[in-house]
Amino acid sequence: MSDDQATPTPVTVIGLGSMGRALAEAFLGAGHPTTVWNRTAAKAAPLVAAGAVHAASVRAAVEASPLVVTCLTTFGDTRSALEPAGAALSGRALVTLNSGSPADARATAGWAAGHGARFLAGAVKNVPAAVGAPDTLLYYGGDESVFDEYGTTLRVLGGDTVHLGSGTDLAALYEMAVGAMLLPALVGFFQGAAALQARGLEADSMVRFAGKWLDMIKSLLPGYAKEIDSGDYTDAASSVDLFLAGAAHDKALGEETNVDTTWIDPLNDLLRRAVDAGHGSHSISALTEVLRGEGSAGARRSS
Ligand SMILES: NC(=O)c1ccc[n+]([C@@H]2O[C@H](COP(=O)([O-])OP(=O)(O)OC[C@H]3O[C@@H](n4cnc5c(N)ncnc54)[C@H](OP(=O)(O)O)[C@@H]3O)[C@@H](O)[C@H]2O)c1
Repeated sequence: MSDDQATPTPVTVIGLGSMGRALAEAFLGAGHPTTVWNRTAAKAAPLVAAGAVHAASVRAAVEASPLVVTCLTTFGDTRSALEPAGAALSGRALVTLNSGSPADARATAGWAAGHGARFLAGAVKNVPAAVGAPDTLLYYGGDESVFDEYGTTLRVLGGDTVHLGSGTDLAALYEMAVGAMLLPALVGFFQGAAALQARGLEADSMVRFAGKWLDMIKSLLPGYAKEIDSGDYTDAASSVDLFLAGAAHDKALGEETNVDTTWIDPLNDLLRRAVDAGHGSHSISALTEVLRGEGSAGARRSS
């Protein structure tokens, strides 16, 4: 059965935690006949009240729909939960929407292929409350025929839905690549908030300025990507040396406010290693060379 607005594709959602529940609600809201299953059966109740069918077993859940969407904690959890339904996967489209490593996505793709399922591994790049919104980003890697056939159904989960390519590990790779920015950015915000509190100021007072700072950082990304892709770091608007000079300020702030800034030490060490590798006068994006383990003096295509 293919995607057709007039007769919405039946969908099965397996895994009804915070995210899985939001996925099932979005399918229900768009009029898709939706079958659900969860290890802890009680979590299906609100969805059944909203019109979902609660399958008695994971196998019955898989058998109910041509498109099976899973949202369990890990790929390993997904494989073990689906194992009793392995034979029923043959000829169906399996779409995973959990976090995990590229290697685990490939392992799950092999497992799905072994059961005769067509496979897409996806990632939801937002919180459950954003599922279904026009600008919510989800990306997928794997069998393009699944995306071609069920793209309209998958777009119910978010308007910014992208097929990255046939590699089944691509969504996991991009999720980890983009996700790597989250913790450093947030810890930086939390450090700033702690420093303000040390002066009797509220964290809320920095939100507007922090937002503008993030906008500025966002504006720099295309230029840095160009430098990294070309390997030419010589046109340095902000050099590694400049960032390293700022390292002393972090220490001074920590001492003045009694805020623990030691989480920055490994980042400053990275700057020092970049200088040692000959990147002091290069753009800060030359840190990529050190992170890639190729900290040779000079960038690939720079002098
Ligand atoms: N929540 C978010 O903000 C968010 C955002 C983006 C991506 N994600 C990703 O989405 C995935 C699910 O997240 P979540 O927030 O929905 O997590 P959650 O609320 O903790 O739910 C986890 C789900 O996985 C099931 N599960 C775990 N291990 C299982 C196993 N061995 N067998 C059967 N079922 C198992 C749980 O079943 P029980 O109910 O029986 O425990 C539950 O349905 C994760 O990979 C997460 O990284 C989440």
